[in-house]
Amino acid sequence: MEFDKILVNPPFRNTSGNSTKTAPGGGRRNLYTSFAYKYIDLIKNTGTIYAITPPGIFKSTNHSRCVYLDYINDSGFFINMIDLDENKKYFNVGSPICSWMVSSKNTDIEVSSIGSKMKLKQNIDYIPVICNETIVSIINKMHNLNQGINLEIVRERNPDTFTGGISFGSLLSGNNNIKIYTDRSFLHKSGCLSIETNKVRTYKKLFESSLFKFWFIIHRYNGSIYRSLMNRIKIPEYDFDITSDDDVFNMYSLNKFEIEYVKYIVDLNGSYNKYERSTIADNLSNNLYTDHARNREYMSGIERDTLRIKQTNEVFTPTPLVQEMLDKLEEQDPTTFTDPTKTFLDNSCGDGQFLSEIVIRKMERSGCSLEQALSTTYGVEFMEDNVLECRARLAGPNPTQEVLDIVENNIVHHDALTYHYMFGEEKKRYLF
Ligand SMILES: C[S@@+](CC[C@H](N)C(=O)[O-])C[C@H]1O[C@@H](n2cnc3c(N)ncnc32)[C@H](O)[C@@H]1O
Repeated sequence: MEFDKILVNPPFRNTSGNSTKTAPGGGRRNLYTSFAYKYIDLIKNTGTIYAITPPGIFKSTNHSRCVYLDYINDSGFFINMIDLDENKKYFNVGSPICSWMVSSKNTDIEVSSIGSKMKLKQNIDYIPVICNETIVSIINKMHNLNQGINLEIVRERNPDTFTGGISFGSLLSGNNNIKIYTDRSFLHKSGCLSIETNKVRTYKKLFESSLFKFWFIIHRYNGSIYRSLMNRIKIPEYDFDITSDDDVFNMYSLNKFEIEYVKYIVDLNGSYNKYERSTIADNLSNNLYTDHARNREYMSGIERDTLRIKQTNEVFTPTPLVQEMLDKLEEQDPTTFTDPTKTFLDNSCGDGQFLSEIVIRKMERSGCSLEQALSTTYGVEFMEDNVLECRARLAGPNPTQEVLDIVENNIVHHDALTYHYMFGEEKKRYLF
């Protein structure tokens, strides 16, 4: 089965080992990346995906472009918008979270970041986490230096040719004091990114300059510990001499405004991830079904200890963010909820934060019955108790047998990555 709208907040975790943390970048080592590929398989070619994930998914994980952005385009879809400000508005956590929309309409990508909005062309290689016109222009200059060559960040070295090197261990924390090694035994034991060079002092000045500090701040969450992303930076092909920050600004032809901006960001360094949670007013209706489906304490009903939350990533989407996303979906396609035949999927549906609001809007906007609204609303969830909560929530306060049958059929207990997405269709086929 394919769906008109997919609204999702997948588990943010590593796929390997016991680690519950996300792996840097957006590669397949993260469960949310596998979910993101699945969305493309499950969406109709006229449909829309609206997801909440770490922004790492839009980073370059190879030497050229962001693999997932290319996958979206190659599958006939386009990314319409990315909101990089979700931490500031809704999630008071240290790791970055963004929301993004993909559809079959080719528009420029609208990116919201640090309170401002900008348009990016579809052919961008990857999306910087902190993103505005100035940052994109500076990064482009650093990545496209005329007659420049790529940095050669190395992990392996040939002991016979080793002449000296630099290790970048602490750069990502905003502390760009570079260590220089002339003893080859040190270089690759550091576990950090390293560059092997016979011009260590010049490189040290380059990497310790304000412009490079700026580059590292901008990429702090981007998996920039990967060689691939750093190797996008170009340096002059021939000998270059650096004695000050200005030499580096000149090397990359930054204009006065860009230089001021770099200095401003470097001064601000460290303050980006300390967002305050905004207080958002609730506008709750008195309708009985709406009361039942919406008026519940966030993540209530089930005891979830810290270990469980770490393993399952049950951090549900706050209702005001759900509302905001549904509003944007409606702006993008005004028939989203007025046409009750449109099908919706959340394949990591938790206790139904998205699905309950979808059902409410379907009834409100199209005047359809609860049964009609439910029969086009689908969920998959890994934790059985969440499935039961979600079904009970969607069924409403006094459910009929028909309503109970629909939610039992449409909200399934399964691993979203291995589910066949037939939702009972397979049974119906054999009835005739
Ligand atoms: C971040 S929560 C989001 C829940 C809900 N969609 C929301 O936005 O509030 C992720 C949910 O995915 C579920 N989950 C984790 N791994 C899953 C899997 N492989 N298949 C389906 N659901 C999964 C978790 O139990 C959790 O409820």
